[in-house]
Formats: sequence, structure tokens, C-alpha cells
Amino acid sequence: MTNPSKQNHSVSRHGISKHIVIIGHGAIGLLWAHSLVTAGHQVTLLSHRDTLPDSRQQFITNDGKTVTNNLTFSHDFPEAVDLVLVTTKAYQVHSALSPHLKHISVPIILLHNGMGAVDSLAIDHKHQVVLATTTHGALKNNDTLTHTGLGNTIIGNYQNTDESVLQQWQQRLHHALASVEIHSNIKQPLLLKLAINCVINPLTAIHQCKNGELLNESFQPQIDKLTAELQQIISKLDDDWPHDEISLKKMIMAVAKATANNYSSMAQDVKYQRRTEIDFINGYLISKSHQLGINLIENNELVATLAAGS
Ligand code: PAF
Repeated sequence: MTNPSKQNHSVSRHGISKHIVIIGHGAIGLLWAHSLVTAGHQVTLLSHRDTLPDSRQQFITNDGKTVTNNLTFSHDFPEAVDLVLVTTKAYQVHSALSPHLKHISVPIILLHNGMGAVDSLAIDHKHQVVLATTTHGALKNNDTLTHTGLGNTIIGNYQNTDESVLQQWQQRLHHALASVEIHSNIKQPLLLKLAINCVINPLTAIHQCKNGELLNESFQPQIDKLTAELQQIISKLDDDWPHDEISLKKMIMAVAKATANNYSSMAQDVKYQRRTEIDFINGYLISKSHQLGINLIENNELVATLAAGS
């Protein structure tokens, strides 16, 4: 996909300007688009909507400044691309990326809640695939994107990405939207985020409550049982898993506290009757539990309760 002769060699604030295709223009995709454009990069947001969004998009930064950026939305995958960043919902990764996959020879970063979407892709040994997770908060409202919470993005090689290439992208992305770190075993931060999502998302979706309400005493027995199950299975999926039940629960509750005033993505999906990412969150671990002969009673119950309500 990279065509050096066609590359935009203008200089961003932190080096040569790159062309990044972002697939998925939800809150996180737009947050990256505004941040990368502000840092001097060229961004194309791939869209499957019949009517493309207005190119004039407002960005309210985390320190409250309002900026208007001209963003490029396109139905067509552009030429001369340096990076593909996929920020769709987990269940859209396959359909959004598959049509373009055979033409892509540059690194692909998958950044979504949940796990398992990469398993459905027809990637071959040539593809450079990076997995990522972020704790940034962003809210999309019509043509305005608000950066509601500063966070951290962790990236790591999934397959075939050279260390030097990964480091270059870490630096560029970090300059655009700090902080970005590399993890040598990306599965670990993904599993931690998954455990957090397995508790916060379905509980807040079922009870239609803010994340902070999970700190109430009444939720603790169920959260304890869920954490025990999560610890049991995740420690089997990652030999170097650094947590025990107590530290895992602390991490989960710390996120509930830090995002106390937010409605989780799943609480919002249920409220607006949209498809949830449950198949890639609790569902991912449930499918692993079948392979490992473990019965995740609490997780299964959450999935059943959510399904019954939909
Ligand atoms: O899905 C979400 O909403 C977020 O990942 C999290 C961490 C639960 C915070 O709301």
C-alpha cells in the first residue's frame, strides 16, 4: 500500500508527516483523527455511510479548548498509506477490514474493546498486526468530539511487526495523543482490560447505572464471584499473568472509581438498543472456558440476563 513516490513529505511538528487511514469514526476514531491532524499528519477516515459526515468537525480538547479541524472522510481506501488504525466496534472489525486486507502492506493497529476480533481475519504471515488498548475517554455528539478523559494507550506486536517499526509508531502516536507505550506481551494488558470490561460493562448495562454505582456494597458479592472466575480462567490463558484475585478486583474497582460518572459503552448500547460487544467481552472468555473445560457460572448468567433483556 505504501507508495513512497506519492507520500506526503510535509513535516509535522514531530517529524515527517504520515498518512493514516482510520477505519471507524466513533468517539475513539475521531479522537485519534483530531489528535493526528493536530500533530501534522494526514488522516483519511474510511466510512461506509451513504452520506459522508461534514468535513468540518469540532474538537473540544481535554483542557477545554475548542478547535475546528477539516477531516477527510472517504468511501474509498486511499493509496499511499503508512498506517491503518481500526477503531470500530469489535463485531465490525471483520466486515470493515476484510475487503481491504489483501491490499494492505503497512502496519494495522486494532484498537477496540474485547478480544477475539483478530481471530476472524484472513491475515497471512505478511501482514503486520499490532493490538492496542486505550483508557482515553471521548464523547461524540453530532459533529463535536469531546476528549472527556486523559488516558494511556498500550500497543504491542501481534504478528510480524518489527520492533523498530513499532517504536517509530509508538513515538509518532505518543506525540499526537500521549501517552502511548509498547508492551512486549500485549495479551496481558488486553486481558486486564477484558477483565475490567467483563465486570463493569454487563453490570452497568443490566442495571442501567453509572460505573461508580458498582462501588456500592450491594454489588460486592457478585463482583467478588465474577472476579474469582475471571482470575481462574485468565491465569490459564497467560502464563505470566501478574494478578491474584485481590489485585484484580482492586484494578477493576479503580477503573469504576476513575470513570464513576460515565455510563459504560455497553450501558449506552443497551439504552439505545444497539448491538453490544458482549460476544467479544464475556463471550470471548466463555468460548475459551469451553476449550479449557471450565464452567464460568457467573459470566454465563450475566450474558443470559443481558440476552433476556434485549
Ligand atoms: O467500555 C467502556 O465503557 C470502558 O471500557 C470502561 C473501562 C468500562 C469505562 O467505561
